[in-house]
Amino acid sequence: MHSPLADAPNLAPRTSKRAGRVKVRAPQYSLPLLRPGEQDPPRVHRFVAEQEGHIHRLLVDEPRNSALICGDAENVLSRLPEGVFQTCVTSPPYWSLRDYNISGQIGLEESVHDYVNHLTNVFAQVRRVLKDDGTLWLNIGDSYTSGGRTWRATDKKNPVRAMSIRPPTPNGLKPKDLIGVPWLLAFALQKEGWYLRADIVWNKPNCQPESVKDRPTRSHEYIFLFSKGEHYCYDPKAVRGPNGRNLRTVWDLHTKAYPSAHFATFPTALVEPCVALSSRPSDFVLDPFIGSGTTGVVALKMDRRFVGIELNPEYLQIAEQRLNGDLIR
Ligand SMILES: C[S@@+](CC[C@H](N)C(=O)[O-])C[C@H]1O[C@@H](n2cnc3c(N)ncnc32)[C@H](O)[C@@H]1O
Repeated sequence: MHSPLADAPNLAPRTSKRAGRVKVRAPQYSLPLLRPGEQDPPRVHRFVAEQEGHIHRLLVDEPRNSALICGDAENVLSRLPEGVFQTCVTSPPYWSLRDYNISGQIGLEESVHDYVNHLTNVFAQVRRVLKDDGTLWLNIGDSYTSGGRTWRATDKKNPVRAMSIRPPTPNGLKPKDLIGVPWLLAFALQKEGWYLRADIVWNKPNCQPESVKDRPTRSHEYIFLFSKGEHYCYDPKAVRGPNGRNLRTVWDLHTKAYPSAHFATFPTALVEPCVALSSRPSDFVLDPFIGSGTTGVVALKMDRRFVGIELNPEYLQIAEQRLNGDLIR
């Protein structure tokens, strides 16, 4: 019998004695992707939303392959069969924070409530395609009202930070207000039937400096753990917390840019514990906003399969190169 843990990288977290926090150590992979006797490496195939027949065949008949699908997340998900994925690990575009320069993008809705509704619809589809004991790990950050500013300048390190339009201050809020977007979304998803099981604080020791003088610099984002049902696949032994105790809800993780990606990627070390805790080898992992492919990189290294969806074909190409070129020998 193949033990799921036998293939899992060593994710035992290191404890920061100062704060008693969990530091999820970047795992060292020593496993080859091929098992003895296997000829072909797993492949990542690229599709567009309309190639439903091919995608269904890949999901059902081809036990070693994964897919990148170009298209709008909600549209693509609505074409996938239900009950396929064990877990979804994703980071959607944040509200009013980035312009990904493509029509149909999420994140530039006029109102934060439209944004939350938009994402709630996407995650209703995610819920449908998850297995009954499936989970959703949702990484999301907050934003401030634009304070009447209608644009934001670029910065050298992060060109997509530039925005030619910025949504107006939401009704009921004032200039300078922190909006509370993650919690608006979390409560909306809870109302739609998701079980909100944990709010994990991703503490970023190397956070972006801010030129503010009247509040502390923001150095965290959230990772919400949702489940589809009351009981779900979760192996608490897969990742341990301080001194071998149960994993804690504050994770110290450095941000790391993927060299050829022009936007906010999340670190592989953020995805690893989520995949390890809530799926087994050969399970399907989903990321409907795959960007540069980080979730796919982790899924393949941990011997899972994945489906990644991305609206922008240029980003999908980066993901494809990263997955088929750099990673799979
Ligand atoms: C925060 S980024 C994800 C980054 C990813 N986690 C990584 O590590 O590279 C969000 C992604 O969602 C994509 N996106 C925006 N609107 C979308 C939509 N309607 N459907 C699918 N993808 C979309 C953006 O192009 C962007 O690549």
